[in-house]
Amino acid sequence: MPNIYPKFTDAELKELSLIRDALPRHVGVIMDGNGRWAKKRLLPRSAGHRAGMEALRGIVRFSHSVGIDALTVYAFSTENWRRPRSEIDALFSLLEEYFHKEIDELDANGVRIRIIGDKTAFEGKLKQILETAEGRTANNNGLCFNIALNYGSRAEIVHAVNSLIESGAKAGEVTEEMLDRRLYTSGLPELDLIVRTAGEQRLSNFLLWQCAYAEFVFTSTLFPDLSPEIYTECLREYAGRTRRFGKVL
Ligand code: FPP
Repeated sequence: MPNIYPKFTDAELKELSLIRDALPRHVGVIMDGNGRWAKKRLLPRSAGHRAGMEALRGIVRFSHSVGIDALTVYAFSTENWRRPRSEIDALFSLLEEYFHKEIDELDANGVRIRIIGDKTAFEGKLKQILETAEGRTANNNGLCFNIALNYGSRAEIVHAVNSLIESGAKAGEVTEEMLDRRLYTSGLPELDLIVRTAGEQRLSNFLLWQCAYAEFVFTSTLFPDLSPEIYTECLREYAGRTRRFGKVL
């Protein structure tokens, strides 16, 4: 029987010093530092990615439990193809393993999986696994779990613009909503928070359009060490900020 993730009550959230109304609806995570985590332990980089996968399981489960609506993680960027072939292969085989092991549990918990990015690069078994995961969970209405694969935000925007042109949109008539509807994240709640691990403070071509009003929380924790407790600290930091959306309060 798959594990059923608990849904925290208001009292349980309070114990974590979290308030339901001050939680982000949509969180983006730039999972950085797997390589450094492995290096510190004299392990191969692939061991760092495996440890990252374990951390991700905890973050998905916890996001569901606290009641976050959408979680978007940066798993493989369009620039990541420049890594050694052996590391790319290790990452994709981890991804296959992840879906193989987790899909029943994710589905049983109502998680909806969406792969965002240019999927034309994937073929064979991996393509089939990704399509099955998306298809099988498409009608679920729990946490929207979006995995950015072969993703680059500029390419996403260019793709949306081309799609607008193809649809016959006329100059001067294009609105933000029209473009937004053609992004891979269409239909998801507005991005509220981006967390980046491992001390780096840049976006690296992740959700550039979507982060217009998002808060940023940077933690020095390496991604494999991002426990639910440290993630909770990031959520608390978010909750403590006042979001003005350009208005004078
Ligand atoms: C960045 O760390 C991390 C990645 C490029 C990959 C993220 C992948 C995972 C967490 C593993 C599995 C993912 C899924 C969706 C199952 P880095 O290698 O750039 O670290 P470094 O900067 O310390 O070298």
